[in-house]
Order: sequence, then structure tokens, then C-alpha cells
Amino acid sequence: MTSIDALILAAGKGTRMVSPRPKVLQTLLGETMLTLVTATLSSMPRIGNVLTLVGNGADQVCAEAGAAAARLGGTARCIRQERQLGTGHALMTAMPHLPGDGSVLVVNGDAPLLTTDVLNRFLDEALGADVAFLSLMLDDAASYGRVIREHGAVRAIVEAKDFDPALCGPLADAHEVNTGIYLFSLPAVRKLLPRLSCENRSGEYYITDLISLGLADGMDVRGIRAEGAGCEASALLGVNTPAELAAAEDILARRRAAELLASGVILHAPQLVRVSPLSTVEGGAELSGPCEICGDSVIRSGARILSHCVIRDAVIDTGVEIREFCHIEKAEVRRGAIIGPYARLRPQALVDEDAHVGNFVELKKTHLGRGSKANHLTYLGDAVIGEGVNFGAGTITCNYDGKNKFRTTIGDRCFIGSNAALVAPVTVGDDALVGAGSVIVEDVPAGKLALGRGRQVVKDRRR
Ligand code: UD1
Ligand code: CA
Repeated sequence: MTSIDALILAAGKGTRMVSPRPKVLQTLLGETMLTLVTATLSSMPRIGNVLTLVGNGADQVCAEAGAAAARLGGTARCIRQERQLGTGHALMTAMPHLPGDGSVLVVNGDAPLLTTDVLNRFLDEALGADVAFLSLMLDDAASYGRVIREHGAVRAIVEAKDFDPALCGPLADAHEVNTGIYLFSLPAVRKLLPRLSCENRSGEYYITDLISLGLADGMDVRGIRAEGAGCEASALLGVNTPAELAAAEDILARRRAAELLASGVILHAPQLVRVSPLSTVEGGAELSGPCEICGDSVIRSGARILSHCVIRDAVIDTGVEIREFCHIEKAEVRRGAIIGPYARLRPQALVDEDAHVGNFVELKKTHLGRGSKANHLTYLGDAVIGEGVNFGAGTITCNYDGKNKFRTTIGDRCFIGSNAALVAPVTVGDDALVGAGSVIVEDVPAGKLALGRGRQVVKDRRR
């Protein structure tokens, strides 16, 4: 079976979104629309290359396409549309990058809820056509292009702006709209594209005019209605405005929560649990809303995430408990560890098995060894900490001298007294004890007691 290339149209201005950010970079559950569409297409075995057409904010959009492809194990291919003269012009711009006599699946980049089910069903019916598009029945056609049929046969798609009920009324089923998903045979579009004109209310080249042009040429043109399981209208929503973005995000969150419940994840306040489609939560894990699990996070079976946590690109192992109000990013927490409440794990924090990280404790680029405990008001940065170490409240690794970062190394079974400042680079050997309130500027040998503080003086009070 020859594979079909896919083209994501992502060059538009997104004027209706108002935001200065390119529309396809708006996010749902922490993922850009572009990443969501790319992920769906990339997961389909019959799709070959995924090309992205960029224009408005091209560098940013291209960088995001690259990041998405890298996460999905591929490489991005971006094509630049220097001026955004419409979706038809977008396809013209991409044609030199689509050689051969196969087909191309074209998808609007602002359809973040697309599913493989919808696309597969569409492809099953569209393959072999010269021009095919996917339509949807809606109660309110809103700003979608209207599908015009005569005796059931497709005649055209008329854009909302150009729709005149007086002219099209008798032929239009006001409820059938174009979803912005197309399959084109490449030889057919090569023939039709030069005939596109921009004589319409927007002054743009419409991809949708290829339907009437194909029919005029006697081609096999198919308007395929999205029907059946997995093809709900919600999967095909186009996102143009902040309100549509909010609605789409809500749908995606519910869909994800339903998937997780079905796979055996326990959700408390499921309507407040926000999990990225790219994050993995294994059956047998437990999440309490409100919480947010985003990026490429992995939450393993038996892990418990209590409420008000934000977890991004982190791995949380089985038997871990993340208590309320924790922020965890690009970190790993191993089996049996307890984090929080109110803890912050920053990039490259590794909390080893059965370790505890308590309230107002921050870890960055630090390995906290097995069974070690930092339970109160502590900062550990650029540190390697052995097993069974206990940190008193208020311990600080002073890792930065204003110019460079330095490492703190602490052996096994050490006891670091409250309010100690460990001025890096410094090493504390196994079984050493650091007195409370010490400023440690020199290495502490194994098994020794180090005190680095002024001796207490007791004097008579002046009356
Ligand atoms: C489009 C369809 C409409 C359909 C709707 C579905 C056209 C003319 N109309 O309308 O029939 O019902 O999608 O959501 O296609 N883009 C480019 N380059 C451009 C212009 C747009 O890449 O020059 C991209 C945009 O980034 C966007 C997509 O094409 O991702 C669709 O453009 P948009 O302006 O949102 O079209 P709609 O008005 O929503
Ligand atoms: Ca749109």
C-alpha cells in the first residue's frame, strides 16, 4: 500500500483569535493545536510525510513543528507561504513539495480535536476520488463553509461570507458544513489549481472552490459526511476565536478524562483533571482534581497525585505519593517516594526510592538518594546526595557565586543540621554531621562533626 502524505495548513493569520501569537500555537491542555494535529497524523500508519505549511509567525510555527516531530520520533518538514492569499493558495504553495501521482490529505491546522477514527473513516471512503472532503451536520453553520447539494449530489462549497440564501437557499441544506479535511489526487489538483480565482468577498483563493471546479471537469468528487462512532461533531471543531478555543479545550479534557477512566485510572473530581493527550497515565494510577499533567509526563500505576499539582514532562513511579500543591517539571520521582505538600521539583531533579521531599523544599539538578529526607524549607541545587541523609529545616546548598554554578556532594547517612549553608563546591563524607546554623566552606571528612558558626556567648544583662 502506498502511503499518503499529509499537509497541515498552518500559515493563516488567525485574526479572529486577536492574540499576537500565531493561531496554531494556541494551546489546549498545554499542547499547541499544531502539536495535537501533528500527533494525530503521525500516529496513522497509512500517512507518510507530514508537511506543515507556515507563514504567519513562520519561524515560531516551524520551531514548534520541529519540536512536535522530535517528540513523536520524526523530523518536521515546513513549507513557507510568504503571503497568505487563502487556503487554495496554500495548497498551490505546497504543490512543488508533493511530487508523484498519489494523494494528499489536507487538514486545517486549527482542528485540534481531530481523531484517527475520523480520519481513517474518511480515508476509507475518499480513496480513489479525485477530490473529496469531509462534511458535518450542524445545527448552526456559523462561519463554516456551506455544502451545496442537488438531489443529494454535491455541487459546491460556498463560504459563509459568500453565502447568499436567496441564491443558494434552495440547494443548501443549511446544516451541512465543510470540516476543512480533504483528500486530493495530485494529478487532479495539478490540473485544477491554475483555474482557481480570488473573485469572492474575501479576495482569497479558496481551496473549497476545487469542489465545483472538479465537478465542472467531470471528475470524481465526493462529499463524505462524518457519521458513526468516533465521528462526533466535537472531533471536527475548527478553532477561530478565544471562545472556540475554550470550548475545544473543555471537550479535549473531558475526552481525555473518559479515556483514562476507561483504562482504569482513578479520578477524583474528573472534570478538574487536565491531562495532555501526549502524557501517559497508567491504569491503577490515581489523580485528584484540580491538577494538570502535561507534556511527555508518565504517571505509573499505583502512583497517587493529590489535588492542585502541576506535573510537566516528569516521570512519577509506582507507589509514589505527590501531596497537594506540588510543581514538578522535567524531574523523576522513584518508587515509594513522598513529595509535598508544597514542594517544587525543577529540571533534572531525581528523587530516589523512598525519599521524602516536604513543604517549601526546592530541588534543581539534584539527585536525592534512596530514603533521604528533606522535609522543610530547603533548597538543594546541583547536588548529589547519598542514601539515608537527613536535612534539617532551612538547609541551603549555595551553588551559585554570581557567575558559576558549583556542585555539592553529600555521602550516605549524613545529618545536616537546620539552617546549614553548604557553600559549593563542597563535599561532605559518609556519616558526617553538620551542626545547625553552620556555614560549611570546606570539605567535611567521613564520620566527622563539622561546626561552622560563632560560639554562643552568655553575659549579664545590663539593667
Ligand atoms: C475554512 C474553510 C471552510 C471550512 C472551515 C472549517 C476555506 C476557504 N474555508 O474556513 O469551508 O468550513 O475551514 O474549519 O478553506 N491558512 C493557510 N494559508 C492561508 C489561509 C489559511 O495556511 O493563506 C490556514 C489557516 O492557518 C487555518 C486553515 O488554513 O489553519 C483554515 O483557514 P481559516 O482562515 O481558519 O479558514 P475558515 O474561515 O475557518
Ligand atoms: Ca478555521
